[in-house]
Amino acid sequence: MNSAIGTTFNRILLTGAAGGLGQALRSRLSKNCEVLRLSDIQSVGDLQSNEEFVKADLSDFEQISSAVVGCDAIVHLGGISVEAPFKSIMQANILGVYHLYEAAVKHGVKRIVFASSNHVVGYYSQGETIDAEDAPRPDGYYGLSKVYGESLSRMYFDRYGIETACVRIGSSYPKPKDRRMLATWLSYDDLHRLVTACLETPILNHTIVFGMSDNAVTWWDNRCAKHIGYRPQDSSDSFRHEVFTTTSSPDVTDAAARHQGGNFVKAKLPRERLGN
Ligand SMILES: NC(=O)c1ccc[n+]([C@@H]2O[C@H](COP(=O)([O-])OP(=O)(O)OC[C@H]3O[C@@H](n4cnc5c(N)ncnc54)[C@H](O)[C@@H]3O)[C@@H](O)[C@H]2O)c1
Repeated sequence: MNSAIGTTFNRILLTGAAGGLGQALRSRLSKNCEVLRLSDIQSVGDLQSNEEFVKADLSDFEQISSAVVGCDAIVHLGGISVEAPFKSIMQANILGVYHLYEAAVKHGVKRIVFASSNHVVGYYSQGETIDAEDAPRPDGYYGLSKVYGESLSRMYFDRYGIETACVRIGSSYPKPKDRRMLATWLSYDDLHRLVTACLETPILNHTIVFGMSDNAVTWWDNRCAKHIGYRPQDSSDSFRHEVFTTTSSPDVTDAAARHQGGNFVKAKLPRERLGN
């Protein structure tokens, strides 16, 4: 057992394993369990000795059920991760999260880490500090689907006792790419620390936690998630000079510079033909 990890699960399911964060978490998360089951609609490449792969589309309950059976925890990253037409978001993120929780009930999974997003609160101002008790202010269909996932997981906790951490991930990339990300950045190692804290805390209940590193500038207060014991060890501060010298000053009249959701508040919401 890795010394940094307290509990080793038998089998953890990682959905969205082919995606950016799936690939970043994959090797790190294998330390948390005997067997890491990867799932996605895309290929995940060659498997390590303690990995297995179940191809599953979140919009298909039987496929998701096959991915969930035999697992004792789920890290749910799968789905559409940007703004998109509502019908696509509905299939992957809304129907998808419902299928995942129904499969968790069916197969007795009691703990889930759900990749929510800062776009649940994208319409708050960059100048204010919010916490998990502030009302959602989603900035588009994508953020709205994450609000649904947060509420759905709350209902499955109250009704069935399935504990969930809704991790409102800020910006998880190798390094912050712009000035907004100096506040929202979450390093891959801190993402793994946070997921590990959510998996291991003795009592998780239903918790909303903002996924960020120990950045000097922050808009989010994790006071409602102290019980999970997450201690970030990285910070965007070491990239501050680089970001300031490679990016221009924000136009404060620009909606993207004023709101926590950044460019997402300006993303065109694709209009679809409804009805006849
Ligand atoms: N990267 C970030 O900074 C960030 C910020 C906020 C939230 N998140 C959330 O974290 C999760 C992972 O983010 P990412 O950056 O790795 O996204 P990503 O788009 O790179 O990966 C998402 C994965 O989900 C899979 N997927 C899409 N539709 C699916 C379906 N119908 N069935 C099964 N799998 C499907 C894709 O194939 C992809 O591999 C997402 O849920 C995203 O909303 C990420």
